[in-house]
Amino acid sequence: MALITSKPMFAKALKSDYAVGAFNISNLEFVQAAVAAAKAENAPLILQVTPSTVNYAGGAYMVKLAEAASESAGFDLVLHLDHGEDFEMCKKCIDFGFSSVMIDGSKLPFGENAALVKKVVEYAHAKGVPVEAELGKLAGAEDGLSVDSRSAAFTDPAEAAEFVALTGVDSLAVAIGTSHGAYKFKGEPYLDFDRLKKIHTLVPSTPLVLHGASTVPPAFVEKCNRYGGSIHGGRGVGEDMIRDAAKHGICKVNISTDLKLAMVAELRKYLAENPAEFDPRKYLSPGKEAVQGIVRHIIRDVLGASGRR
Ligand code: 13P
Repeated sequence: MALITSKPMFAKALKSDYAVGAFNISNLEFVQAAVAAAKAENAPLILQVTPSTVNYAGGAYMVKLAEAASESAGFDLVLHLDHGEDFEMCKKCIDFGFSSVMIDGSKLPFGENAALVKKVVEYAHAKGVPVEAELGKLAGAEDGLSVDSRSAAFTDPAEAAEFVALTGVDSLAVAIGTSHGAYKFKGEPYLDFDRLKKIHTLVPSTPLVLHGASTVPPAFVEKCNRYGGSIHGGRGVGEDMIRDAAKHGICKVNISTDLKLAMVAELRKYLAENPAEFDPRKYLSPGKEAVQGIVRHIIRDVLGASGRR
């Protein structure tokens, strides 16, 4: 068993109406939960870590954790760097043994973003590692932008086609209305499907990536707040929207917030009900189970990825 690239997973997903779940993990419990869920669903799996997790846990630890998870669960999986901020971070993770990387130059002007992506692609492809890039900006309710200025930041379809041709990137994250975190929408959730369809038509063989896809389940938020948390006005992407996006070129769906909410809600409950407990194996277990539950639900009921391994 090994860490594999996302290429065969995306080739399969692109031909069909499902998407592969990419779940952000930052410790042992999240790895175990995500892997157990994917195993139970016989689904393809991408584990991903951000640079802040690389700094928090250590890239070498994350590689060994992912390898151990793959070995003990008995299936190959992808370990992906999410939002690599510069060439050095991508190079470092490739050298650690990550099997996929993202270079996020989305804050840069088009030409600089493309040049940075090209540089990472050259290094990564020489090592057999595929690269994800991002074009357009993910702005959320928290950014305080008007609806018009939010959509002005969305991915331009013609630019997407030019960007893919210029850089040779393997997959492309698009901005169509989602954003990171628990506060995505002020009003009704909205994704720009016309834009997504245009992008997919112009780059039909490029797997597209949906960032910021957490659904922010109200039950997790309510439980968290009942036990001392303070999360107010959180709003996620509709499950049906994610399902529809998978029909128009979205092959990879990024989920982080939902896992964190599942963990913290159960952790708060457990600690409130067991004030004398101080064993992490006990107080982290209900959260680990809840993370497994939400990952399984997303794989099966939202992404349609059960049985696709
Ligand atoms: P969420 O915050 O919606 O889970 O998004 C995670 C993500 O896109 C990581 O890249």
